[in-house]
Amino acid sequence: MSAVTASRPRIAVLISGSGSNLQALLDAGDLGGDVVLVASDNPDAGGLARASSAGVETAVVPFRDYADRAAWERALVERIAEAAPDLLVLAGFMKILTGAVVGRWPTVNVHPSLLPAFAGAHAPADALAWGVKLSGVTVHYVDEQVDHGPIIAQEAVAVEPDDTEATLHARIQAVEHRLLPAVVRDICAGRVSVRGRHVHVSPAPTQTQEAP
Ligand code: GRF
Repeated sequence: MSAVTASRPRIAVLISGSGSNLQALLDAGDLGGDVVLVASDNPDAGGLARASSAGVETAVVPFRDYADRAAWERALVERIAEAAPDLLVLAGFMKILTGAVVGRWPTVNVHPSLLPAFAGAHAPADALAWGVKLSGVTVHYVDEQVDHGPIIAQEAVAVEPDDTEATLHARIQAVEHRLLPAVVRDICAGRVSVRGRHVHVSPAPTQTQEAP
């Protein structure tokens, strides 16, 4: 996992859907880095309009325009590379990426469960079906296996007896919108280091009060 060393990292965010996590990043104040590109495989992703409203460049690389996955991924890599990012953030990006992307840039993902429980595209529904009392949010580095890389941050969300997939996912997303920007800020500040599966996050310096 290569480290992010730029003093003010350039951030590319990859989305497939509504982009509420992208919005949380855009609204989070100074992340210590700048969102310079929002890329999507889905031309109809709601997050593209959010990016445009914030004045962020967008790119759409539709899967169906390419002969196969490798050709699509090559085109995606080329488009992302034009923005020269230091960090990729997968925020609801629903396509699986291989080493062509994740070996090239440090990449983080936000996932709506406490990994390694409930990897995959239906985590809140799977948690409900299993009957767990706690689920939550994981922000992790991305490697070549799905929802698998070293875990940077996790937070639990209680499952309520009358939860539906929608109500549980909504409470999980409220946590995502806080946790993802916090992790991105830590990475941009150089506070995150990785050794194998183990991620260490140094505490942010506390503001010291000036003497009167
Ligand atoms: C989030 O719940 C995220 O954990 C999952 O996909 C969802 C994306 O939501 N990977 P949004 O597009 O950010 O609203």
